[in-house]
Amino acid sequence: MPLPPQYRTPTTYRRFYIATKATSRRGGFPNPTLELSPMIPDWLPYLLNGILLLAIASIIYYGIRLGITPMPSSRKAVATFLNLIPDAIDGKIVDLGSGWGTLAYPIAKRFPDASIVGYELSPIPWLYSRLKSLFVRRPNLTLRRQSVFDADLSDVDVVVVYLHPAAMRKLGPKFEQELRPGTLVLSNTFPVPKWEPAQTIHLGKSWLSTSNDIYVYHV
Ligand SMILES: C[S@@+](CC[C@H](N)C(=O)[O-])C[C@H]1O[C@@H](n2cnc3c(N)ncnc32)[C@H](O)[C@@H]1O
Repeated sequence: MPLPPQYRTPTTYRRFYIATKATSRRGGFPNPTLELSPMIPDWLPYLLNGILLLAIASIIYYGIRLGITPMPSSRKAVATFLNLIPDAIDGKIVDLGSGWGTLAYPIAKRFPDASIVGYELSPIPWLYSRLKSLFVRRPNLTLRRQSVFDADLSDVDVVVVYLHPAAMRKLGPKFEQELRPGTLVLSNTFPVPKWEPAQTIHLGKSWLSTSNDIYVYHV
């Protein structure tokens, strides 16, 4: 009997051999597919589909509730943020709405003497960013499942943020109340209302947005 293509590696060939032998011992025609099927429990595909659907539903639900999906900063935006943060920083940097950790991880890598805290409420991106720490160790990075509006900003040196206009309207007064003079605030796409940026960096169009600016403020 010719060897089916899916059995042409040493491991899979061994399975084929065992399956064939087991069947021929019982005097039946070898059917490796049937013999292998007990290795995958019937309920496993349903469980995986269920988990996937729940994860998608959670991302959609929190996207609607929070007013923004966990869309990551573009590579260009991440590089710009990294260039705007002073090299010698050894204080505290917060990422308000840290999503999948797209910005928080590179910041933690580039500034090992600083302490980086990310705030994220949506469970799936937050869980992903936490699990990532099992493979990418950043001892100076803490990822909290907490609202940005409950973050204590009184000891922060740099704020990085990529939220939406309504959140920025709410954050403006919080910044004015809590941030120390000299704190650097970097906002992706949405400005802090009524604040005059020290600099606006135009990143140009990306495939997801028509235009993309980074606003730089010094409190
Ligand atoms: C556009 S993403 C930015 C992600 C990341 N900072 C980046 O630049 O790649 C905004 C994130 O903020 C989160 N978010 C929105 N409102 C929030 C809130 N009140 N508290 C915590 N996270 C929030 C969203 O769930 C989303 O993941």
